[in-house]
Amino acid sequence: MELFDVYSLYDIEPVRGEGSYVFTADGTRYLDLYGGHAVISIGHAHPQYVSAIAEQVSKLGFYSNSVRNSLQQTLAEKLGKASGYEDYRLFLCNSGAEANENAMKLASFVTGRSRILAFSKAFHGRTSGAVAATDNPAIVSPFNATDKVVFCPLDDISEAERLLSTGEFAAAIIEGIQGVAGIRVPSDEFMKALRELTKKYGTLLIADEIQSGYGRTGKFFAHQYNGIRPDLITCAKGIANGFPMGAVLISPAIEARKGMLGTTFGGNHLACAAAIAVLDVMESENLMENARRTGEYLLERLSALSRCPAVPGAGQNGQGGTLPLLDVRGRGLMIGFDVEGSGSELRKRLLFEKKIFTGGAGASTVRLLPALGITTGQADVFINALTELLRNK
Ligand SMILES: Cc1ncc(COP(=O)(O)O)c(C=O)c1O
Repeated sequence: MELFDVYSLYDIEPVRGEGSYVFTADGTRYLDLYGGHAVISIGHAHPQYVSAIAEQVSKLGFYSNSVRNSLQQTLAEKLGKASGYEDYRLFLCNSGAEANENAMKLASFVTGRSRILAFSKAFHGRTSGAVAATDNPAIVSPFNATDKVVFCPLDDISEAERLLSTGEFAAAIIEGIQGVAGIRVPSDEFMKALRELTKKYGTLLIADEIQSGYGRTGKFFAHQYNGIRPDLITCAKGIANGFPMGAVLISPAIEARKGMLGTTFGGNHLACAAAIAVLDVMESENLMENARRTGEYLLERLSALSRCPAVPGAGQNGQGGTLPLLDVRGRGLMIGFDVEGSGSELRKRLLFEKKIFTGGAGASTVRLLPALGITTGQADVFINALTELLRNK
């Protein structure tokens, strides 16, 4: 049997990881500024994480949600404390798409409404409801397409009000920072207004923090920069450092009903052991603060690079202009920048010539989503490699 060929692969196979590095079988080391798509939060093969999973699987790897599982409670308490949402309740599932699916379903149950407001260029996953909230026709099949989801341009407050004022919307779903769209940070004014408008028109606000959450931006959730509290918050990716897990944080105003949501694998013993280890390491190694500081450093260095002369030694506006690097943006360790020409060509050269993994988005954007413990020294290695490539060396 062959694999169903849906991924554009690099011809490279990491077989081992350590911190912010991965290695191929021949021992070649790669600096990982992609974090396996924002998934690696505490670093590859962190010893505390490895032993927590090994110990748990040697005791009990899985039992169903028909019995008590105190690991879920431990995780809920730690997550409440780490995120500042101690009064919310936790529902555990297996992926980001599933978390969004459950959040939208919950909003529909609670409000009795069936429409969802989503935003242009958003990405919320590939299951039926989640993909319908994504306005990329290439990934929405006729089965998934629905007029129950309506799209509004990001940052367009008056269009959001026009739609919400119909009173038809169960939820508005918005990424803390849009990731797949190429790192688009919604304005503070817009996020605050959206919170107020959703309250005013009886719509629940879902913050999709699957990529932007879990400490990546330097706060636990990106929406905490806007000083708002959504009704539902979805998490996945970094939550268990690569062990599949998703979560929905649910406001105290929403009542649970038996059987309302459910899953076989969600919140299983192994996933919980992995997620508890992640929060413990994040706290003991102060990783969120490191993400804030090192992210700021990377953003500053990238911005400086965008003003740098293309020809070394030339004046800023001298012969040859500046390096072909445009529009650096992001927060903490969720960073995007555009290049003149092909972003994927640049990423290929970074990987094969400089041994550095990065992420992409669209034709010309490079995304950086490294583990939260990345050092300024590793950031410098990247900046130097990027400078050389942009100078076409
Ligand atoms: C913001 C956001 N939401 C949802 C998802 C879907 O998560 P998963 O692939 O775990 O289903 C992603 C994945 O990239 C994402 O970035």
